[in-house]
Amino acid sequence: MMPASRLSWSSQAASTAAAALRRFVRGVGATVTAIDRADLDPGVAAMPGVTLRRESAFGLAPEPVDWLFSDIIAYPDRLLALVTAWIAAEAARRIVCTVKFQGATDHDAADAFAAIPGGRLMHLFHNKHELTFVWERPAA
Ligand SMILES: C[S@@+](CC[C@H](N)C(=O)[O-])C[C@H]1O[C@@H](n2cnc3c(N)ncnc32)[C@H](O)[C@@H]1O
Repeated sequence: MMPASRLSWSSQAASTAAAALRRFVRGVGATVTAIDRADLDPGVAAMPGVTLRRESAFGLAPEPVDWLFSDIIAYPDRLLALVTAWIAAEAARRIVCTVKFQGATDHDAADAFAAIPGGRLMHLFHNKHELTFVWERPAA
């Protein structure tokens, strides 16, 4: 593992998510860039290596990161466009994101996520009306 992994993470860190992130950042010495207009959990914001950029994730140009995490509440097809743009740009090495549904499940978007080579779409124990997408760039 790289000593200072770069990682992009979008969410309002709170409770267990913040605690998990604190353990992760301390454990691997990761550098975290959070993209969110909302504040971070103060305990996370104060950590060395954590930076908040108050921007929309949808306005970002893809940039090299080891991990791209997203828990954004967004229409699945919009998140699909973001994820496929980062993959096409070869910017992220690994992606973990939640695909959230409002009302009816968007099966077309779910199928499109599931069809991304190198990806996997799962309903995890804590997922409610959402799925978790994980992807790793194939070895060169
Ligand atoms: C479901 S919450 C994340 C909760 C977090 N995982 C936790 O455990 O506390 C969604 C987050 O996405 C952020 N968000 C919504 N739209 C966004 C956008 N376009 N760009 C970046 N962040 C966004 C919200 O401000 C919020 O912090």
